[in-house]
Amino acid sequence: MTGVTQVCADHRYPVKMAHLCVVDIMNSARPAKLYIAPMMALTDRHCRFLHRMFSPKAILFTEMVTAHALIFGERTHFLNDRSESHPVVFQIGGSDADSLCVATEIISSAGYPEVNLNVGCPSDRVKNGRFGACLMAEPDLVADAVKQMCKIGLPVSVKCRLGIDDLDTQPLLERFVDKVANAGCERFYVHARKAILGGLSPAQNRTIPPLQYDRVYALKARFPQLEIIINGGITSALALAPHLANTDGVMIGRAAYYQPEAISEIAAVMFGDPIPDRTSIIDDYIAYMKEELNTGVSMHHMSRHLLGLYSGVSGVRQFRRTLSDQRRLRHNDIGLVHEALGHIGEAA
Ligand SMILES: Cc1cc2nc3c(=O)[nH]c(=O)nc-3n(C[C@H](O)[C@H](O)[C@H](O)COP(=O)(O)O)c2cc1C
Repeated sequence: MTGVTQVCADHRYPVKMAHLCVVDIMNSARPAKLYIAPMMALTDRHCRFLHRMFSPKAILFTEMVTAHALIFGERTHFLNDRSESHPVVFQIGGSDADSLCVATEIISSAGYPEVNLNVGCPSDRVKNGRFGACLMAEPDLVADAVKQMCKIGLPVSVKCRLGIDDLDTQPLLERFVDKVANAGCERFYVHARKAILGGLSPAQNRTIPPLQYDRVYALKARFPQLEIIINGGITSALALAPHLANTDGVMIGRAAYYQPEAISEIAAVMFGDPIPDRTSIIDDYIAYMKEELNTGVSMHHMSRHLLGLYSGVSGVRQFRRTLSDQRRLRHNDIGLVHEALGHIGEAA
């Protein structure tokens, strides 16, 4: 690694300054990882199938499923990733150690390689259920749950924030991570902003609290033995160098969903992978949609994930308008996707 550790004027914590290039990343002892973030109501199994085609090496996440829903709900609905989509990390929400253990066992038996506990969601509904970001104030409870879950034998990770409300100092974050790591968690995905519980919507909580990347870098420096993955506001390959110099990998959320081509651009920089051909991806996704339509899946559940494609390409507005026509989508006719694609490349 050619980075040099410095304290620069903009950062309150030491940061490896990035003279980082792809060769550094590929040669480092622990290769950097690329994760696609869990996003409720967006990253369903169809989305994961599509995202996989943009990078064979990215590690995908399910949306958050509560332990209760997994145990008592329609299990096959949640555990239905195609083998081609893997590796997929399964994210659960909850705080009751017994339920989390049962859920972990179910996830393990279904072949998922990692279970992730959501300690970052700020929504009122989640807070009222005593899980998500509010658990950052209860490191002992989280540590106990993680300890029990680890007994199942599946790697257990945690996705968290920098803090919540006025409990957002670096020592408190370190105390949280230390306790949970001692319980057996070796990988933390850190959304580099705090959450404000009560007063801000989940969407506002993804934009209003400022990003503080240097605090995630400092966490990695404090716990070099842990895997620290940085998340929040990373939208392109151009932004990667300081993150990869100071953490073990990046997690991309909205940019991956609203512009899936960003996944392959980032993977190209991180892994030296070739950019896959967008037309072949669409062809394969159309073949997938046909198979799923035959099993009774509605087309709009699958076609909606295509709406982020072709950003900036002429004809994209008509492409999106065609694929958003709910009346026509109801006919489940794959011809609508071909019609939408016909607009691409036309003068806007
Ligand atoms: C629509 C939406 C739903 C989300 N649902 C979840 C979720 O189920 N679990 C979770 O840990 N984070 C969830 N998040 C947060 C993302 O995983 C991620 O932490 C956040 O968007 C910041 O990353 P980004 O700036 O790359 O988008 C969600 C974000 C969005 C936009």
